[in-house]
Amino acid sequence: MIPEVLRTEHVSKSFGQVTALRDASIHLAKGEVLGLLGDNGAGKSTLLKILTGFHRPSGGKIHFEGKEVQLKSVSHARLLGIEPVYQDLALINELNVYRNMFLQREIMYGGPLRILNDRAMRARAKEQLKQMGVNIPSVDVQISKLSGGQRQGIAVARSVYANAKVLLLDEPLAAMGVKESAMILDVIRRLKEKGDVSVVIVAHNYAQIFDFCDRINLLQGGQITFDRRTRDTSVEELTSLVVREYRAAREQNLRPPSRTPDGSTSGPIH
Ligand SMILES: Nc1ncnc2c1ncn2[C@@H]1O[C@H](COP(=O)(O)OP(=O)(O)OP(=O)(O)O)[C@@H](O)[C@H]1O
Ligand SMILES: [Mg+2]
Repeated sequence: MIPEVLRTEHVSKSFGQVTALRDASIHLAKGEVLGLLGDNGAGKSTLLKILTGFHRPSGGKIHFEGKEVQLKSVSHARLLGIEPVYQDLALINELNVYRNMFLQREIMYGGPLRILNDRAMRARAKEQLKQMGVNIPSVDVQISKLSGGQRQGIAVARSVYANAKVLLLDEPLAAMGVKESAMILDVIRRLKEKGDVSVVIVAHNYAQIFDFCDRINLLQGGQITFDRRTRDTSVEELTSLVVREYRAAREQNLRPPSRTPDGSTSGPIH
């Protein structure tokens, strides 16, 4: 049996009066790619931010590699091998590219004094980014000076080389151009072939990610309402589920503007 790497049980999260998550129970096997879908405001980012240690859950449990864990911070989760790939969370804006690539696993000179080996980090970062096709002006440039897509590329490249056990990708293609999207999808595909990294990927454009997800979960109103192996469902079935949800919400007149399966934005139909 393939071992389970991550599980949430009845995880909930409230922000004051707002309930972002009601009852989110997900499970992730080693090497599995889970696609997490859901409408705007369904709670996808909140769930991922709980798994990265950024938010504490209001209720429920998290198990990592078979043991219950309390994720204390993003660095705590990263030390366990849970890597977030967020434009706004994963990187430190004030640091340059190569220091970000080696955050918390800095290369030091040998000897008792812990002195950073900038030269080695610089050279290795340059080589790794080149290998992965991430295009940036220089590894010396501050992260804050890069575009969203470039930052995303660095965040993904870093997690690949950090030997993550679980990779959490929140809309990794949202800020990407065509070339960058292809690059990110390629990296995920390569990871999947290696089989030792598990991935949770949030995407609005599920047609784009469908092919390399092993399983699809749908999050609606803070709860998982659909859990199916990709081979037992289809883009058509997901589309009809989303359309049904859209119609139900419209009937209740609660529909916020939202993105359609092809990633474009559509408002309510009047
Ligand atoms: N830090 C916060 N403080 C208060 N409310 C929040 C916070 N983060 C999220 N929420 C609320 O929780 C709900 C779920 O938000 P979340 O960002 O998880 O949705 P999402 O599924 O990622 O949506 P999208 O597809 O638009 O990214 C929303 O109603 C949102 O306004
Ligand atoms: Mg989100």
